[in-house]
Amino acid sequence: MTTTSKQDRVLIFDTTLRDGEQSPGATMSHNEKLEIAAMLDEMGVDIIEAGFPIASEGDFEAVSDIAKASKNSVICGLARANFKDIDRCWEAVKHAAQPRIHTFIGTSPLHRDITALSMDAMADQIHETVSHARNLTDNVQWSPMDAIRTEHDYLCRVVEIAIKAGATTINIPDTVGYTIPRESADIIRMLLERVPGADDVIFATHCHNDLGMATANALAAVEAGARQIECTINGLGERAGNTALEEVVMALKVRHDVMPYDTGIDTTKIMGISRRVSQVSGFPVQFNKAIVGKNAFAHESGIHQDGMLKNKETFEIMRPQDIGLSGTSLPLGKHSGRAALRAKLEDMGYPMADNQLKDVFVRFKDLADRKKEVFDDDLIALLRDAGAAD
Ligand code: KIV
Ligand code: ZN
Repeated sequence: MTTTSKQDRVLIFDTTLRDGEQSPGATMSHNEKLEIAAMLDEMGVDIIEAGFPIASEGDFEAVSDIAKASKNSVICGLARANFKDIDRCWEAVKHAAQPRIHTFIGTSPLHRDITALSMDAMADQIHETVSHARNLTDNVQWSPMDAIRTEHDYLCRVVEIAIKAGATTINIPDTVGYTIPRESADIIRMLLERVPGADDVIFATHCHNDLGMATANALAAVEAGARQIECTINGLGERAGNTALEEVVMALKVRHDVMPYDTGIDTTKIMGISRRVSQVSGFPVQFNKAIVGKNAFAHESGIHQDGMLKNKETFEIMRPQDIGLSGTSLPLGKHSGRAALRAKLEDMGYPMADNQLKDVFVRFKDLADRKKEVFDDDLIALLRDAGAAD
């Protein structure tokens, strides 16, 4: 029997309802947010970032109602580094059995310019605001926004201040999706080595996907010692999105041999929540999206279909059932071979003798050359023309 120690467990922090909803056009209704939160809770997400309570009355109501309805997950709200935001956040999350305040400030030179704060003034503000949040709850997360582009010495200094002020989780955001896996890992390692008290808190990784590396960067951070991954369903999020929950969770499951870390996610719920988030956000999932795309478990070419019919492991590294699908799909098109056609026809109740199949296959190839995908109705019409069906 294997047991999971704190060292092996990676917490999944879902921010579909906060960072995901910040995607232009992805606004969800109050009831839709409650429904998604219930699905996240049920699938085993450790922390749900339910919204940004000061952003609007609607966000406040959604976070409070999610907090009231939550069963297992920690419910977190976002707040900027000021007392008004933090108090409003607390008013919303306090109804949860396990509430969390997540407060942040941009620490990179670009952000310090915008806020017109000196390094010292910002350090004081971090101390005051994290201490204020900690007086409200013992579950406080702090983020130095744009951490990746923050000077390393300053990053170490402000992380130390946040820990001393009572933060229990330190999140390291790659706000603009700028980092690469090696650097993502190096920063976590550096913080763990250099910051006093770092061993007493959980380090989180929060990656955006502007260069298509959000999943790789998050996993690299975990290998370096981060134990919380911030992510969203379908990778929904600002610009090119955030780390996709389904990608990191399945990567940790499928490659447990080289990344021996566990999550608490029931992966069979992945497909259901992916479809629902796509519906309510209005963001379609690209066909070739890893894990949840329409083609992620579909094989059209003859060689692949033949291999799949003989042994599914030839062309699939995970079982479709593990993410909640009923099985692999072998769509018929111009690249398909005789074996897949025979299997499909048998499935439809038309077993074929070899010579009959030969004739039907020629007709099928002719049709497939003219049509992107050949559906069941096309096959029935084709069988009728060949005199193989009534
Ligand atoms: O990307 C980011 O920096 C954020 C913070 C608010 C954590 O979403
Ligand atoms: Zn973000």
